[in-house]
Amino acid sequence: MQKIKNVNEAEVAGKRVLVRVDFNVPMVTVDGVPQVAGDLRIRAALPTLELLHQNGAAQIIILAHLGRPGGKVDESMRLAPIEARLRELTTVPFVMHENLRFDSREEANDPAFAQELASLGDVYVNEAFADSHRAHASIVGVPKLLPNFAGLQFTLEVAKLSNALTPPQGAVAVIGGAKFETKLPLITKLLSLYAEVLLGGALGNDVIKARGLPFGASLISDKPVPTDLAINERLVVPTDAVFAEVDSNAERSGNVVDIRINESVIDIGPQTTAQWSEKIKKAPFVLWNGPLGMYERGYVDGTEGLAKTLAECGVPAVIGGGDTATAIEKFKFDPEKVFVSTGGGAMLQFLVDGTLPGIEALKTSAV
Ligand code: ADP
Ligand code: 3PG
Ligand code: MG
Repeated sequence: MQKIKNVNEAEVAGKRVLVRVDFNVPMVTVDGVPQVAGDLRIRAALPTLELLHQNGAAQIIILAHLGRPGGKVDESMRLAPIEARLRELTTVPFVMHENLRFDSREEANDPAFAQELASLGDVYVNEAFADSHRAHASIVGVPKLLPNFAGLQFTLEVAKLSNALTPPQGAVAVIGGAKFETKLPLITKLLSLYAEVLLGGALGNDVIKARGLPFGASLISDKPVPTDLAINERLVVPTDAVFAEVDSNAERSGNVVDIRINESVIDIGPQTTAQWSEKIKKAPFVLWNGPLGMYERGYVDGTEGLAKTLAECGVPAVIGGGDTATAIEKFKFDPEKVFVSTGGGAMLQFLVDGTLPGIEALKTSAV
């Protein structure tokens, strides 16, 4: 077992460097042509690529995946649009390997595939924190075969998310989104570390239901919330919400207990947004994952309200989640104060387990 080495310690002059990145970014199709819709993950890899180039790397070979093509070529998931976006963002020369997941051996962590990839380079850099919860060949196989290093963003992710696991007293966590059961281990853990866990999005509905309050036609998860969690007073649910009528989509805001049978909660309400903003302003540290409303349908007021507070108040914060990062993309945060994680599932798994397969793989020495 070795200490993880940072890419700024790597001797790369004259060497071929394999850089595994996570460019699994949101895409849109315009006039039948797929295009990058959000480039947070692409921009996050730029400092590492620039460092490698400055330090004289002979060749930078980018390894990435897009979507879940299931081990075969899928024309809609080629990396060409992502490569084009990267060339717009940097003048660093690189070559881009085609979508790794076109080969079923990537997800199977096939040693022969890892060997094939490793033979393309002399040094391996993991700049794919957001994919490091996957024990795939390019994440855990290749670093066993080459001198391996963590990318700059990867290192920052581990440091910032580790800080979120040792929060100062009085810190506040905000958890939104959907599917309570997938976030249950995280919520349980955060209740042991944070003064309060503010629960919005569809997750709030599950606790409201478990507390015996009306929930109308709101989205509810399949599994009930465990009783010990439901009665925990440090698990805070919204006091008011935006409701949408199921058939007409007519909306109004009101006290959560006044929800009608044909209405569902689609966002936290203005009073809750104001109350939670006050809690955030007074907190020494904030961790936030999950949109507080159905942002894709335009119900963004709660999510944007809290993002605005965090952008303005100067409280140190870590924000992450695939949907969360997309929902708050337009906000400009002070990078000294607010860290926006590129990780979706990887961030959640790191917060629960304190490590990831891709992190452990960097602790093994190349043979
Ligand atoms: P992240 O990717 O940031 O971890 P999630 O995937 O857990 O976030 O949750 C995002 C989803 O939660 C979005 O599709 C959003 O529409 C949904 N959501 C948020 N609030 C509600 C709500 N009140 N009812 C139903 N779905 C919601
Ligand atoms: C992500 O977007 O969270 C990562 O790229 C992992 O993608 P996956 O969930 O398809 O493994
Ligand atoms: Mg999501």
